[in-house]
Amino acid sequence: MRAVVVYESMFGNTKELAEAVAGALSERLAVELIEVGEAPKVIDPKIGLLVVCAPTHAFSLSRPATREEAAKQAQRGLVSSGIGLREWLGEVEAPHGTRAVAFDTRTELRIPGSAARVATRRLRRSGFRVVGRPESFSVKKTLGPLLPDEVQRARRWAAKLAAEQLTVEK
Ligand SMILES: Cc1cc2nc3c(=O)[nH]c(=O)nc-3n(C[C@H](O)[C@H](O)[C@H](O)COP(=O)(O)O)c2cc1C
Repeated sequence: MRAVVVYESMFGNTKELAEAVAGALSERLAVELIEVGEAPKVIDPKIGLLVVCAPTHAFSLSRPATREEAAKQAQRGLVSSGIGLREWLGEVEAPHGTRAVAFDTRTELRIPGSAARVATRRLRRSGFRVVGRPESFSVKKTLGPLLPDEVQRARRWAAKLAAEQLTVEK
């Protein structure tokens, strides 16, 4: 089975988790890791699983204004300097009902609101078959770093996801 991981990230934390998730999935599946600005707008029928991820901004997926706010705080350039996952999900088509799941990053304060929850609703609306609950991973502060063990937890999450999808496929 082929899988694609599409990530949006401002400061690199979500990207780091996307890499960890892609790495863990690649032990069982053929995986491509794509920054959201480079992601295709129509999902190839050969893709069996889509994983999307993004940072939580203002209780939700980022918008142009929140990305501008992030750009002011960034010490280096932004990882995702073009569109965000919200814009991509607004355009993407999944004519074959591709299986999909979302995760996000948020601060450890656990303010209500999650980009992954919003992304999951939008995945359904775009024709994907959602196969898992939205998951969140924590950063210490806005710029990061990820809390200790979050990379390991993301790897375990992805390994379980791959195993489940291969079982369903049989
Ligand atoms: C403009 C802005 C708004 C944010 N709003 C929230 C929020 O509502 N809840 C939250 O938990 N974190 C919030 N954060 C923190 C981000 O979730 C954090 O910066 C992100 O997880 C880091 O991931 P990244 O390095 O991939 O961008 C916000 C950050 C920015 C820049």
